[in-house]
Amino acid sequence: MNTTGNILIVDDEKNIREGLKKTLELEGYNIETASNGEEAFEFIKNNDFDLVITDIKMPVISGTKLLEMINNIKPYIKVIMLTGHGNVETAVESMKKGAYDFFTKPVDIDKLILTIERAIKEKNIILENIELKKQLNEKYGIENIIGSSSSLKSVMDIVKQVAPTKATVLIEGESGTGKELIANAIHRLSDRADKPLVKLHCAALNENLLESELFGHEKGAFTGAIAMKKGRFELADGGTLFLDEIGEISPIIQVKLLRVLQEKEFERVGGTKTIKVDVRVITATNRDLLQEVQKKNFREDLYYRLKVVSIKMPPLRERKDDIPLLVNAFIKEFCQINNKPMLTISPKAMAILESYSWPGNIRELRNLIEGMVVLARGNEITEKDIPPHIKSEIIEKDFVKINLGLPLSEVEKIYILSTLKFVKNNKSKAAKILNIGRKTLHRKLYEYFGTSSSDDNSDENEEEINEEV
Ligand SMILES: Nc1ncnc2c1ncn2[C@@H]1O[C@H](COP(=O)(O)OP(=O)(O)OP(=O)(O)O)[C@@H](O)[C@H]1O
Ligand SMILES: [Mg+2]
Repeated sequence: MNTTGNILIVDDEKNIREGLKKTLELEGYNIETASNGEEAFEFIKNNDFDLVITDIKMPVISGTKLLEMINNIKPYIKVIMLTGHGNVETAVESMKKGAYDFFTKPVDIDKLILTIERAIKEKNIILENIELKKQLNEKYGIENIIGSSSSLKSVMDIVKQVAPTKATVLIEGESGTGKELIANAIHRLSDRADKPLVKLHCAALNENLLESELFGHEKGAFTGAIAMKKGRFELADGGTLFLDEIGEISPIIQVKLLRVLQEKEFERVGGTKTIKVDVRVITATNRDLLQEVQKKNFREDLYYRLKVVSIKMPPLRERKDDIPLLVNAFIKEFCQINNKPMLTISPKAMAILESYSWPGNIRELRNLIEGMVVLARGNEITEKDIPPHIKSEIIEKDFVKINLGLPLSEVEKIYILSTLKFVKNNKSKAAKILNIGRKTLHRKLYEYFGTSSSDDNSDENEEEINEEV
């Protein structure tokens, strides 16, 4: 059985065009024909061909020229050249320019059919790869990093600036702040994007295992080393190596790592051959590495080698502006993954999520949204769907402690002050919460504290709208 596909045959000789068309149609292919390069190129621009079979010698636009034109706009289309006797040199020339194969006339049909099948299969694999790469870029590229806070924007500026260079990058930040996501983005945006991005979690392995994971080992290097194994540095050659939890590596590994970074060479465990590599190293840690240096747990020289560029991931509680964006994006993502109709989230539920402190950062938020989407019954996520530990943190934070035995006026005073603090001194918001008019609030402030307008953080327009009549 052959691979079906769309083929364009280009030849200025009608007999050859039509003859090939008939033969290949019998094999199940869809065939179009063109009698010159110009007509062919128009067809190719506007249609999806898998393969073009073109005569080389044609007036105006030769087959070789057409090949170049195709390569410029749709390089994945395979091109097979046809040539008359005595023109083999031009055919070889076109092979150098990227033709898939060439045939001399009269064409050996059986051989041509086999070649066509192979070419179309290859073209489909290439297209699949292009599609996969596109998906990977969507998943790991910069588009997937959500947030518009100024602190994340500064991080992204550094990412874009540093990506095309070879500089080592140290990414510091609490757990779940997106360190790995940033490492992915740096790799994808670099000219190493087509080469491997190899990752290693340094905390998960003991010293010996870590050493052989990083540098590989020779056969027989230690009990159990039954075959030679390449290390991550070798596997990442030409690409990027991401070492996670770098703060956990032992002094011996620190020395070895320093050497690779300085000399760009190493030996496999148990080996004597020096191996040279070209690897860009990105590391991450949720420790304060400088503190580890001061405590003499981490070599200072290695520290400075690793942090030629340093990126500090801000915790989510310090970029609360990003929360609504992240929440909406995760809701969309998990609705799609779980084949659910698009859910919305109530303003109150969103406000709770915005106030929470997110000790587990974006990972915690993402996991929470996934759970809520999966369990949601209606088409809106409400505060009822939010787990109690999150709600209780909010309640505790908004709690006012008032000693018993105070006169009511004192209680009112404390309560008004706490409310103002809660809304960052925005008097319109405070008046709304207290369910009194703004003028009343000002009067009470004057009465209790002898002032009403100092440190007013409120928006004047808003105040006008809320003005008590
Ligand atoms: N800005 C962001 N936009 C979208 N998703 C994000 C963002 N930051 C982090 N995430 C997601 O949050 C999760 C945690 O991110 P990541 O694994 O990069 O964090 P980390 O800092 O490496 O955490 P750990 O220190 O625990 O390894 C991942 O699912 C990641 O896709
Ligand atoms: Mg990580």
